[in-house]
Amino acid sequence: MKKYVTTAIPYVNGAPHIGHAVDYCLADTAARYFRLRGDEVRFQVGTDEHGSKIFQKSAAENLPVETYVKRNSDTFKTFISKLNISYTDFIRTTDPEHIKRCQDIWRKLSDHIYLAKYEGWYCTGCEAFITEKEYKENHGVCPDHQIPYEKVKEENYYLRISDFKDQIREAISSDKMLILPEFRKKEILKLLDESPDVSISRPREQLTWGVEVPGDASQVMYVWIDALSNYITVLGYPDQDISDWWPAAAQFVGKDILRFHAIIWPAMLMGLGLPLPKVLVSHGMILADGQKMSKSIGNVVEPVAVIDKYGLDAFRYFFLRHVDTFADSDYTEAKFEEAYNNELANDLGNLVQRLATLAKKNGIKREGTSVLKLSDGYCELMDRFEFNKAFDYAWEKVQNLNKRIDDEKPWMLAKNGETDKLKKCLNSLIKDLLQVSLELTPFIPDACEKITKVFENPIAPPETPLFPKK
Ligand code: MSP
Repeated sequence: MKKYVTTAIPYVNGAPHIGHAVDYCLADTAARYFRLRGDEVRFQVGTDEHGSKIFQKSAAENLPVETYVKRNSDTFKTFISKLNISYTDFIRTTDPEHIKRCQDIWRKLSDHIYLAKYEGWYCTGCEAFITEKEYKENHGVCPDHQIPYEKVKEENYYLRISDFKDQIREAISSDKMLILPEFRKKEILKLLDESPDVSISRPREQLTWGVEVPGDASQVMYVWIDALSNYITVLGYPDQDISDWWPAAAQFVGKDILRFHAIIWPAMLMGLGLPLPKVLVSHGMILADGQKMSKSIGNVVEPVAVIDKYGLDAFRYFFLRHVDTFADSDYTEAKFEEAYNNELANDLGNLVQRLATLAKKNGIKREGTSVLKLSDGYCELMDRFEFNKAFDYAWEKVQNLNKRIDDEKPWMLAKNGETDKLKKCLNSLIKDLLQVSLELTPFIPDACEKITKVFENPIAPPETPLFPKK
């Protein structure tokens, strides 16, 4: 089957932080898992480059905005490669093709668009229009950015969400567009009921850096309309037939931006006559020492430094196993280091080293051609996108293999000259290790590739430990 996987495209108003890595690692796990199951995968990543926030930042750095966004987009691209993300398409919202296609999308939606006055609140940090209710609940200050909401009074184009509300509600309630985790579904349904028509443009005086509204040079598209469109413009819509890839098999987003993906995005798709994504997977936030990471608090964890110190496998290991796929999780270096030393190095690194050393020392070769297969228990969890649980499930097998070596004591078989038994014992352990390694591949692909190489004939233990102790 053909499957399309997407990630949220980050704003380029700063450098990547560990929170951004979550989307990439989760989506990459899905993409690699689908490929293991025999699917052909298209996998989008990219950068969101318009909006007031970015424009203000470029001005603060005294750089032409084009130079500023190019530089930061390149930093994200390098970061994505550093995470070994197996993407197929990289989109920048400043790509001329994307801009043209966005304008085509706007034209196609024109029956559902009208011009009206907006008077209310806006948060530049969120690039979001804020309802009176939210304004009151948050006492006029954005809880995520700690900046007061701005009062805006302007003429905007609106998207008539009311044209689609019933259909969206039905799609969400019936899981035609499945929202994961389940408990977010209720929140979204409530929000949908309260959702007014949404403003989808801003006057040019307020926002110069954006896609021009077709037929009205005085207005610029609201950055979310431009950004959400990326998922289909990157496939070539509307110039190309996208039905091979769309609807997406899974779209990964943080819980903070689920509302845009579960309300505005389906309304746009319905207006275009396109099907809704099959699944919206919303992940939690990474907290640093129990607090939201923010530049003003000064607790932002720099991912590249962590990867350089511990290696990419360790990074992916921690964020895919010890970070709950759906809930908020805390990052501390102490927890990270403990997981690295006690689990990755002790459980897996030692297992590989022990088995390969025993095999080499006793001249044991890999025998027979065993077909590796993913287990049903693992697939059930992966199919439900419960990645950290699937990772736990596979890791238990790693721990069981260590127990089996301790119980079966192959070194005693060698000592007693029981060669046939030793051959059988080691071959069975190695086969089972390769089997687990297959299930670990979507999470820690580099380590699994190394493990496969170690156990090719002649078996060659790694010259340096896979995970040197820190
Ligand atoms: N540009 C929009 C997305 C447009 S998608 C059509 C945006 N950008 S963002 O840079 O603020 O966030 C990008 C992604 O990173 C989002 O999925 C967001 O939830 C995620 N994260 C940002 N901070 C995070 C954490 N601290 N923890 C986990 N994910 C976080 O929103």
